[in-house]
Amino acid sequence: MQTQIDDLRALIRHHERKYYIENQPEISDAEFDVLMKQLEALEAASDAPIPPDSPTQRVGGGAVLGTRIPHRNPMLSLNNSYDQQELKEFGERVRRLLEDEPTEYITELKIDGLGVSLIYENGVFTRGLTRGDGEYGEDITDNLRTIRSVPLRLTETDAEIPSVLEARGEVFIPKHRLDDINVQREAEGEPPFANPRNAAAGSLRLQDAAITASRPLDIFVYNLNYVEGIEFSTHTESLEKMKRWGLKCNPHTACHKSIEAVQNYYERWVAERDELPYETDGVVVKVNRLSQQHELGATSKYPRWAIAYKFNAQQAITTIERIDVQVGRTGVLTPVAILVPVTLAGATITNATLHNEQEIQTKDIRIGDRIVLERAGDVIPKIVEVLTADRTGNEKAFEFPDQCPVCDTPVQRTEDEVAVRCVNISCIAQLKRRIAHYASRNALQIEGLGPATIDQLVDEKLVRDVADLYDLEIEPLSKLERMGVPSARNLVHQIEQSKTAPVEKVLFGLGIFHVGETVAELLIEHFLSLDALSKATLEAIESVDGIGPQIAESVVNFFSQNQPLLDNLREAGLHCFTVAADMPRPEASAVPDSFFSGKTFVVTGSLDSMTRTEASKEIKARGGKVTSSVTSKTDYLIAGEGAGSKYAKAVELDIPILTEADFFQKL
Ligand code: IVH
Repeated sequence: MQTQIDDLRALIRHHERKYYIENQPEISDAEFDVLMKQLEALEAASDAPIPPDSPTQRVGGGAVLGTRIPHRNPMLSLNNSYDQQELKEFGERVRRLLEDEPTEYITELKIDGLGVSLIYENGVFTRGLTRGDGEYGEDITDNLRTIRSVPLRLTETDAEIPSVLEARGEVFIPKHRLDDINVQREAEGEPPFANPRNAAAGSLRLQDAAITASRPLDIFVYNLNYVEGIEFSTHTESLEKMKRWGLKCNPHTACHKSIEAVQNYYERWVAERDELPYETDGVVVKVNRLSQQHELGATSKYPRWAIAYKFNAQQAITTIERIDVQVGRTGVLTPVAILVPVTLAGATITNATLHNEQEIQTKDIRIGDRIVLERAGDVIPKIVEVLTADRTGNEKAFEFPDQCPVCDTPVQRTEDEVAVRCVNISCIAQLKRRIAHYASRNALQIEGLGPATIDQLVDEKLVRDVADLYDLEIEPLSKLERMGVPSARNLVHQIEQSKTAPVEKVLFGLGIFHVGETVAELLIEHFLSLDALSKATLEAIESVDGIGPQIAESVVNFFSQNQPLLDNLREAGLHCFTVAADMPRPEASAVPDSFFSGKTFVVTGSLDSMTRTEASKEIKARGGKVTSSVTSKTDYLIAGEGAGSKYAKAVELDIPILTEADFFQKL
């Protein structure tokens, strides 16, 4: 039986390679499934242990995430160039440093995904890491194993399989698959991913490898970073060899005798990149000869032998069909342009926020206007231009409503803010948003309570405030549209589960103005329970480190108006009303001394490798404190992508600023 098992594994590996790597399947999906079933049955019947590189072993249990592992050598980033002149300058620098030696260039597509490192020992995939801060990566082996185009075992070739091999590449999600994932996420009440890159990043960092396995992840390997015992003379040779070992490399590479010739390759892909099934954000130009790469070396950030030649931000043109006004959790009215659907950078875009009334006026945006949408990097698409020259005269100016579009209450405009608000706290739209916030992942985390369900619960008057959620019963719930008994039972179970949420999550979930996650944690660290906080005076709240007068006032206001809601939550049986006050809190002294001990941090902007909440947790676990606003008491600001006013404040107060890479290093 063992030979039969071995043969079957080899056959399946062959077909995996044909299908997932070479895109040349030799058998149908159904035939492939039959082979897999046969192998599973044989493995189950055999006493021999199943090796981890068997094709049946892609999805193990959960994923072991979070272990930081040093890269063999830094995973560098690429210097960017944006036009022909900058490309020429790169070529001149190379020529100067190589003292006019003839140089050949390789061009590749720059895949817009996530850089990873794959390590094979004696031909078997043993470890996969994220790029992390370049020095240390995060262990994502279990999740990478689920990607069918990552071979679990290298193909034997004429050359020996090296004892150690490290390949680096980019994991991505094909652009046409993003919409499917988002439809599913929205059905599950999760926010959609803005682009395929975020979808890939989110999928690679999941705790449950079975969910990663359900995402259509793919890979292109672009660099043989290390190989034991084999010498290559050019990058092209190493790519060829990697292909023979069964690693998936992008087919669109080209070789050029001069830097001038690279421009043609670039222009070809500017014209054709939309037709590729995956996102690209530029081309990568590399010196081909490895001895020359070696001679050119690297700065601390970039290799001197390669450069990214970036494409311009992706744009699309479409028409504004109408402008809707949405009412947020705190009553703010936000105008949203409803667009004729258009594909942009891998996602179908149907609307774009117009932010506020002022934005519409300054940009003179009208209903019926043709507009230019742009997505640069990771950000959500925005309207960058109104094509006023295309106007026909039929466009209509938008009149911002004087009444809430949902509850008809006259709106409030104040001089000191651009926001226009509905001040009716019983407004149905606000209630729906408050419930969604209460149920959201960082608050009470009630899975299965998505927007469609919330709409029905509120419209059918089954829920009038968040405490009513705890009275919901399976029978009436199951009568809701798209619900049924199993989903209703699950939802009731999830709601029941949420009763055990820690008090700071409940406080955050209440959606008090200015009380984000960090502030909620600070307040609970100090007052320990909702009861104590609800009785605290303005002065007592304001005296908490990191809490300003605006927050204190908002908290006092909330509790003075919402005592009945608290009583209802207590009655519903939320554990935090009974356990929080007595709960022993970890002593700061239990944490070993570190860079973070006793220092105060503010985290702002978006980080690549973790969320702000995760970053805060890491800091606290090391004895540091996290507050929400930059003051003279702040020791460090950790600034991610898109940091704004907090960054400016830190500069003004001369507070040291850490980049994500600095922060990662301190961790
Ligand atoms: S070469 C030292 N080649 O782009 C060599 N990188 O912005 C550095 N990327 O971190 C990488 N496609 O994750 C290289 N064909 C390609 C690439 C590529 C995508 C990513 C990679 C890198 C990032 C730099």
